[in-house]
Amino acid sequence: MKAVVMNQVGDAAVLEHVERPDPVAGPGQVLVQIAVAGVNFMDIGVRQGMAWNEMPNPKILGVEGAGRVLAVGDGVDGFVPGQRVAWVYAPGSYAETIAIAATSLVPVPDHIDDKTAASVMMQGLTASHFGTDFYPVQPGDVAFIHAAAGGVGLLLTQIIKARGGRVIGRVSSADKVAVAKAAGADHVIVDTGTQFVEETLRLTDGVGVHVVYDGSGPTTFQGSLDVLRRSGTFCWYGPVLGGPGPLNIMQLPKSIKLGYATFFDHIHTPQLLRERAKQLFDWIGEGKLKITVGAEYPLASAAQAHRDMESRATSGKLLLIP
Ligand SMILES: NC(=O)c1ccc[n+]([C@@H]2O[C@H](COP(=O)([O-])OP(=O)(O)OC[C@H]3O[C@@H](n4cnc5c(N)ncnc54)[C@H](OP(=O)(O)O)[C@@H]3O)[C@@H](O)[C@H]2O)c1
Repeated sequence: MKAVVMNQVGDAAVLEHVERPDPVAGPGQVLVQIAVAGVNFMDIGVRQGMAWNEMPNPKILGVEGAGRVLAVGDGVDGFVPGQRVAWVYAPGSYAETIAIAATSLVPVPDHIDDKTAASVMMQGLTASHFGTDFYPVQPGDVAFIHAAAGGVGLLLTQIIKARGGRVIGRVSSADKVAVAKAAGADHVIVDTGTQFVEETLRLTDGVGVHVVYDGSGPTTFQGSLDVLRRSGTFCWYGPVLGGPGPLNIMQLPKSIKLGYATFFDHIHTPQLLRERAKQLFDWIGEGKLKITVGAEYPLASAAQAHRDMESRATSGKLLLIP
């Protein structure tokens, strides 16, 4: 089969589209024909050597996708050849086929196509965790979302709006404003620095926001603290772009709640994974959640997808088609 591997840590040039042995389904595994693989910012982190270093190179990148079951290994119940499935946190997804733990799979209903399914496994589960568990947004709450036209940002905006919140988004360029507004953002600030603070305080009559969602690196961290209202919640989630460094808790604004959110800590069993994925599929079926596919690339062009995501030029979900 064809797959995209990294032979070493580095920039997008280390990604190679090569021939690899066909995987087989071992005990507890399912062999899947991949229809669509999702591109996530964490793939850039893996490529840069920030995660999954315990897996030797060359390794196949990608953790997310959707496809059709080809075969099941010993001890697998509940999946049969021909069935449509999706997954997240399964290494080796930039490929034509994958042997994947059955516990990582969710069934995909008929009304959800492969591209939609692959688009919501990482970013949709993340957005739903952020808006409903980490900080359960209440009607009237004001939320600030960085990278509001990105994969997580567009889904989070819709979930917050559906819960009755107001969204102030930040994007890096004017051409992303319409995309963020189409997802429901009430105000969109164009900024790559810290000017968003003054504008957000103006929009909230100097009071600040109930919750800030920041996965945008060290540059925005202090500004995100500054736009929080009293007792506000800071949802930090950007390990690849980097954190603020060591924090002195006594120098943080008093009474705020600050945490590093990852959906995998909350959605940590196969049952929870399937329930929460089903909820996303239901929302999509009911028209409550819309997927924006920003770009599709042939699998062989995975390196270009990485370059585009890092260039800050993309919006919505990036997909690879084997
Ligand atoms: N903790 C978790 O569980 C979890 C799960 C999924 C994603 N994430 C994190 O969420 C963030 C978004 O991920 P995604 O997959 O949805 O990607 P994405 O938002 O579709 O794309 C990344 C966005 O980040 C911004 N960006 C890119 N390079 C940047 C840079 N050098 N400095 C500052 N901002 C930059 C850009 O938005 P602007 O140019 O408009 O600012 C870009 O659109 C990433 O930080 C990712 O690591 C965390």
